[in-house]
Amino acid sequence: MDMSRLIADRCSAIDASGIRRVFELGARLTDPINLSIGQPDFPVPDPIKDAAVKAIQSNHNGYSMTQGITPLIRRIREHLTATLQWPDAPDDIGVFVTSGTSGGLLLAVLATLNPGDEIIIPDPYFVAYPHMATLAGARAVICDTYPDFRMTAERIEPLITERTKIVLLNTPSNPCGVVLPQAECEKVRDLCRERGLLLIADEIYDEFCYSDARDSGHCPSAARGESGWQGTLLIRGFGKTYGCTGWRMGYAAGPKALIEEMAKLQQYTFVCAPMPLQHGCMATFDVDMEPTVARYQQRRDKVVATLGEVTDVTTPGGAFYAFARVPEHLGLTGMQFCERALERNVMIIPGGVFSERDTHVRLSFATAEAKLEQGVEILRELMAS
Ligand SMILES: Cc1ncc(COP(=O)(O)O)c(C=O)c1O
Repeated sequence: MDMSRLIADRCSAIDASGIRRVFELGARLTDPINLSIGQPDFPVPDPIKDAAVKAIQSNHNGYSMTQGITPLIRRIREHLTATLQWPDAPDDIGVFVTSGTSGGLLLAVLATLNPGDEIIIPDPYFVAYPHMATLAGARAVICDTYPDFRMTAERIEPLITERTKIVLLNTPSNPCGVVLPQAECEKVRDLCRERGLLLIADEIYDEFCYSDARDSGHCPSAARGESGWQGTLLIRGFGKTYGCTGWRMGYAAGPKALIEEMAKLQQYTFVCAPMPLQHGCMATFDVDMEPTVARYQQRRDKVVATLGEVTDVTTPGGAFYAFARVPEHLGLTGMQFCERALERNVMIIPGGVFSERDTHVRLSFATAEAKLEQGVEILRELMAS
């Protein structure tokens, strides 16, 4: 049977060839130094695993309410009040548990974008952003953030048209690790409010914010403050912070009218987030990840110090990626440099996977210290050659 006739056009609008090529090449290596990984290298802390196992054994294995189990929603609300100073206002503020951060993002665009509408996204971007717009029949408008990778109000403003509905801000960012300072976050929020746009704040790495990028002890956030939820949809995840990316757990919080529409769509798509893992995630609020984040900050310092000798690399304030320029004297694209790194057994990702340009490479420091040092030293040699 000719399947091509049956496949929807939206599939051909999505191209996964760049990242696939790197993984195909990498699959030929035995025991590579893998600096391409987008998930932490520590096991899920025991109290969180124990809570999930206990939930399975206690037969919490059925559907939950589509918005999530009440005690988890309560914990999330308390957390938002404690860390972002959100009021305790269940009549105005909606919170619901999503199937991963991706699930929250997808439902958000499906609930808001009509065909032809525009969503402004950063460039470089998390790989899924442009495709989420495509799935909604909308257009992703790229906000060029080179060379400092800050998506500021000044850079966003000229891109707003009468079709713009959403500005998507990601801080700390993937692939650059850049944390937008608090004052800049607030300027983006104010701009969105003035122009009647929804601000989606993808803060999946909010707990992975290094001490030198924090503001009043917390990760800067466009959603901070008593009125921080107004006009802002906050989307966060548990996967990166607690090493449970495979659990597919996240949450969305913001204006109740929007959250209710998203929950309606969840009812007919994901149905609910995995029930036992919702119980597992309740334990996350009592686990201190500070020592782990401090260890990652030391890794970051080493990566930036080593590569900074030979190229431009913006110091990541959070997440666990560095986005380094391929030195111009090499005359190589990001993809060509990655192929050269693969010849030396090191896997990294070309910047073109995350951007309209292919001038940089992303390396992840979610890899044990010894391997990371080895890999970064090889990259330094290659960049200096
Ligand atoms: C910025 C950003 N947003 C969203 C996601 C998706 O996260 P999840 O695995 O929770 O769907 C990722 C994953 O890499 C990411 O880097």
